[in-house]
Amino acid sequence: MTINVDSKPGSRPARNQDQPVIFFDTTLRDGEQSPGISLNREDKLEIAHQLVRTGVDVIEAGFPATSPGDFEAVQAIAQQVSGAVVCGLARCVESDIYTCWDAIKDAERPRIHTFISTSDVHLEHQIKKSYDEVVDVARQMVRLSASLCSGDVEFSAMDATRSNRAFLARVLQAAIEEGATTINVPDTVGYTLPTEYASLIDYLYDKVAGLDRVVLSVHCHNDLGLAVANSLVAVERGASQVEVAVNGLGERAGNAALEEVAMALVTRRDLMKRPCNIITTEIARTSRLVANLTGYVVQSNKAVVGKNAFAHESGIHQDGVLKERSTYEIMRAKDIGLGDSDIVLGKHSGRHALRSRLAEVGINLDGERLNEAFRRFKELADHKKAITTLDLEALVSEEMRERHDIYSLTHFYVSAGSNVIPTAQVEVLREEESLRGKAFSGGSVESIFCAIDDAVGITGKLLDFRVRAITSGKDALAEVRVAVEVDGKNYAGQAVAIDVLEASAKAYVRALNSVETGAEVGIARPEWMF
Ligand code: KIV
Ligand code: ZN
Repeated sequence: MTINVDSKPGSRPARNQDQPVIFFDTTLRDGEQSPGISLNREDKLEIAHQLVRTGVDVIEAGFPATSPGDFEAVQAIAQQVSGAVVCGLARCVESDIYTCWDAIKDAERPRIHTFISTSDVHLEHQIKKSYDEVVDVARQMVRLSASLCSGDVEFSAMDATRSNRAFLARVLQAAIEEGATTINVPDTVGYTLPTEYASLIDYLYDKVAGLDRVVLSVHCHNDLGLAVANSLVAVERGASQVEVAVNGLGERAGNAALEEVAMALVTRRDLMKRPCNIITTEIARTSRLVANLTGYVVQSNKAVVGKNAFAHESGIHQDGVLKERSTYEIMRAKDIGLGDSDIVLGKHSGRHALRSRLAEVGINLDGERLNEAFRRFKELADHKKAITTLDLEALVSEEMRERHDIYSLTHFYVSAGSNVIPTAQVEVLREEESLRGKAFSGGSVESIFCAIDDAVGITGKLLDFRVRAITSGKDALAEVRVAVEVDGKNYAGQAVAIDVLEASAKAYVRALNSVETGAEVGIARPEWMF
């Protein structure tokens, strides 16, 4: 559909028109900084592969100097994921930059992303440096980065939008002179407004020599709900890279949401005039994967990927959509890959059908993993007539997780009913060792959790417990999430099973796994979990 808008001649900046916007995804770095998220190496690899399938150009895989775990995950992504630039973050600190390079150097196309603060408030209270010192450090560290990762160095001026403009221009100029190929102007605290950001971009293009020969990037936080709007206005002003995160994850209120920026560019290409490489039909799956692995469930009314994004509730809207979709729909559900969750397989489907259906949704399994997925599929098919893509995704991610668990539930038995005291018995394997426990309590779930405590010898305090059905129907798979406190630290667990009690037991065992691996989650009461 085309809508005519009055645009004043000359009001649109001509910079980089028709050039694809580069999508830099920071789900695995800034996104992982959301409170309570703790992704392991396998989770990160799975997300990185899916980001490539989604057409992301640059993956910021992590911040290698922050922990050995982050280093390993970034290194694994650099070594195993091809099809996108793999970037690591480093402060403008020599040891960070060397560590970052070590982690990413095996990538097909590596990038070092180094940053230093430029706002007065950060200089005075945090890094305690003068303007001259910041320029000096930025110069040296960009030079070092360029000597290691020649041809692809990104420099960020942290808190750029609250910085003195003339000083900001001076730092960026120095970074370009030392070999930065991408210059990022972050709105670190989500403070700027679209008009102000637009004028900052114009100012920088005017004052920084050579800015038009490197990639200008924007990184917007959502504290005032303006991250996407600010990113789009910057693109209109000539920025060529947007830094985004799936489902808008990120520090505090998050980063600009990948799916919203992409769909805005695609849906309003009449005005935005900038293509991008995002395969929009992968968006729904990418969003689900990230929600499942991070535990951050997408709010129902979230733009593009919320469950209500394509639901029409009012009679007038339904009537209009039935007569002509475009009356109330600006995007189609199928544009983001929805609608493929209809019945896909049933109990007579064979291994080959399962394998090809999984491959169609980007999951390639062979050998033992395919056998295990097939065994689970048959088990589910005995219970559930029509198996959907959502079921298959849940089955496979469940299998992936189990392979890395220290504790695994092998057996549980509960007796419960009216006027009986619920009693549970469980068997948990710790590596090869069988641990048995039993308990009775006020409810069946409580008894199971107490029996697990008895088996493993850890007493967890349940902070939160949530159940949801993966699809509709009484035979739907159940997903349970728990948050558990052990010795003053918080841990989370998630599991999917045909039976709610089994999913509960597995989720609880998984939370205790995190106690063993030290993967605690950050906040006291994890309201974030759903
Ligand atoms: O928000 C920010 O400024 C950042 C930088 C490290 C780019 O995340
Ligand atoms: Zn950020």
